[in-house]
Amino acid sequence: MNILGINAYHGNSSAAVICDGRLVAAVEEERFNRVKNAAGFPACAIRYCLAEARLTIAQIDHVAIPRDPWARLGTKLMYAVRMPRFALERSKVLTRFSGIHDELAAACDVGAEAIKGQFHRVEHHVAHLASAFFVSPFDQAAVLSADGLGDFASTMWAKGKGNRLEVQGSVSFPHSLGLYYTAISQYLGFRKYGDEYKVMGLAAYGEPVYQGVFHEILQANNGHPFRLGLRYFCHHQTGPQMTWADSGATPSLGQLYSPYLEERLGLARIPTEAVQKKHKDVAASLQLALEEAYLRMLNSLQRETGLSAICLAGGVAFNCVANGKIFDRTPFSDVYVQPAAGDAGLAVGAAYYVYHQVLGRPRCFVMDHAYWGPQFSAQAIQHALENSEAGGPGFSIKQLPAEELAKVTALRIASGKIVGWFQGRAEWGPRALGNRSIVVDPRRAEMKEVLNQRIKHREVFRPFAPSILEESTADYFERSHPSPFMNLAYSVRPERRATIPAPTHVDGTGRLQTVSRRTNPLYWGLIKEFEKLTGVPVLLNTSFNDNEPIVLKPEEAIDCFLRTKMDVLVIGDQIVEKQEPCASSC
Ligand SMILES: [Fe+2]
Repeated sequence: MNILGINAYHGNSSAAVICDGRLVAAVEEERFNRVKNAAGFPACAIRYCLAEARLTIAQIDHVAIPRDPWARLGTKLMYAVRMPRFALERSKVLTRFSGIHDELAAACDVGAEAIKGQFHRVEHHVAHLASAFFVSPFDQAAVLSADGLGDFASTMWAKGKGNRLEVQGSVSFPHSLGLYYTAISQYLGFRKYGDEYKVMGLAAYGEPVYQGVFHEILQANNGHPFRLGLRYFCHHQTGPQMTWADSGATPSLGQLYSPYLEERLGLARIPTEAVQKKHKDVAASLQLALEEAYLRMLNSLQRETGLSAICLAGGVAFNCVANGKIFDRTPFSDVYVQPAAGDAGLAVGAAYYVYHQVLGRPRCFVMDHAYWGPQFSAQAIQHALENSEAGGPGFSIKQLPAEELAKVTALRIASGKIVGWFQGRAEWGPRALGNRSIVVDPRRAEMKEVLNQRIKHREVFRPFAPSILEESTADYFERSHPSPFMNLAYSVRPERRATIPAPTHVDGTGRLQTVSRRTNPLYWGLIKEFEKLTGVPVLLNTSFNDNEPIVLKPEEAIDCFLRTKMDVLVIGDQIVEKQEPCASSC
C-alpha cells in the first residue's frame, strides 16, 4: 500500500511517501528550488520521494491532498460575498487544484492515464492533527492544531485513539492565533513570511507592559477558546492577502493589523529602524498573551479528554517557549511535536489520515527522528569536492574513519573553530538536527557574535540552540523530557548557564535538541568526543545556511563553506580545512 502526500499551492510545499504505513521519505520543495518557504507544486520533492521509495507514480495507490474545498463551505461563501478580491484569489488557487492530476503526471513525466491512484482531499487542520498524532509514540492523546488559516479554520482539536482521530472542535476565520502573532510581528517590522520566530526570540528581552492592550487584542470570553479584538485587525474585512500560488518566490502576506493598533500602541516599526525597548516590550506582551490563550486551550482540552499526552501541530506549535511551559502549567506530562509541525507536515498528515482513518489500517510507525530527506554517496561528495575551489590550493582535505573524524572535529570545535557538519539524510522540517548543521563551542560566549559576523548575519537578539546528549539533559536543563526536534525550550540550570553561555538565551532558556545515540549515532558520537575533551556534553547547533534554505546537496554545503568565513567543513568522511596563510619563513 503506497501513499503519496502532497502539500501544493501553499506555503512550505512538500511531499511524502508512506509504504505499508511506514514513512519512507519526506522533504520540502524549498530544499530543491532554493526559495525559502516555497509554495507552488512540489515537483522535485515528489520525484525524490518516489525515487527514495523505488516507486513509479503508477505504483502509488492513493494520493492525499491536504486541502478540502468543501470544508466550511457556508462560511467561505459568506465571506466571498463580502470580500470579492479574496474570493477571486481563492478561486484561482482552487482552479490550480483541479489540475493537480495533470501537474502530477507532468512532474513524473508520464501521461495522466498512468496515474491509477485514488485522490483524497483531507481538510487542512485534520491533516495537521493526523501529522501530529499518527506518527507519535502514543496510543491515546489529545491533539491540537493551531496556525494562521487553512480551509477557513485556524484551530482544531481532537482526541486520538489507536488509528482514529475524533475531532472535538474548531475555531474558524477570522479568529486565529497564527494571524494574531503574524499581525503583531508585522507591526514590529518583521514582515517576511515566517518571521514570527524572530519576534519570539525578541520577546525574552522585553517586559509585558502592554498586557492591558493585549487582553483587548486577544480575548478569552463567552466560552470561546479565544477571540481576536477585530478592531485591531483588517483581515476580516479584506481577507488575508496571501500570495503563494507561485513556487518561484517566497510567499507573502498583506498587512493584517488595522490603523487602530497604531492608535493604541504608537506607530509601527519600519523594518530598517533600530529595535527599541518599546518593541521588545510589545513582543513580550504579544508572547505572554499567546501563552495565556494557548495554555488555557490546552488545559481545557486536557479536562475534556482526561488524557496525559498531547500532540501539537500547525505553525503555532513551533512556539517552543510556550511548548516548554506545558509541563508546569497544564496536567499534560507527555508532549509530541513532529519536526515539520508547520504546513510542510501536511503532506505526511494527509497520507497518514488516508492510511488510518480512511483505509482503517493499524498503527505501525513512530517518527522518532527527522532524517527523511535526500542523502548523497561518498562518490558524489568526492566529485563535488574535486570540482570546487576546495579541491585546489589553499585547502586541505583528509578522509578519516568515523571515530577519528569525530575526534578531530571535536578538537577543532573546542579550539574555537566554526565547523560545517554535513552527513547522511537531510532533516525533515525547518531545524538542522545534526545532519545539515553548523556546530561551535557552546562554552565561548563570543561565539554568538562570531557566528553572526562570519556566517549567519542574523539579528543580534535571536538565540542559538544547544544540542545535548539525551542522557545528560537533566544535568543541564530543569527538565529532561526528550526534545529531539528543537520544539521545546527549557530553563538551563542556573549553575550551568556560565558553562554554556553561547546557546543560553537572555531569559536563561535554551531551545534544545536532545540527541539520541540510537537515532543519530554519528552526531551523538561527535558530541560525546567534545564531552571527553571538555567535560561538556553540549554543542551549539545552527542550521547550515546563510539566509537561504538549509543546504541540501554537497555542492551547496561546499559553496556555503567557501563564501562564508567557516573554518572547517566535515562532509561525509572528509574533513576540509582552509589552510592558514603561510608565515614568511615558508
Ligand atoms: Fe497550517
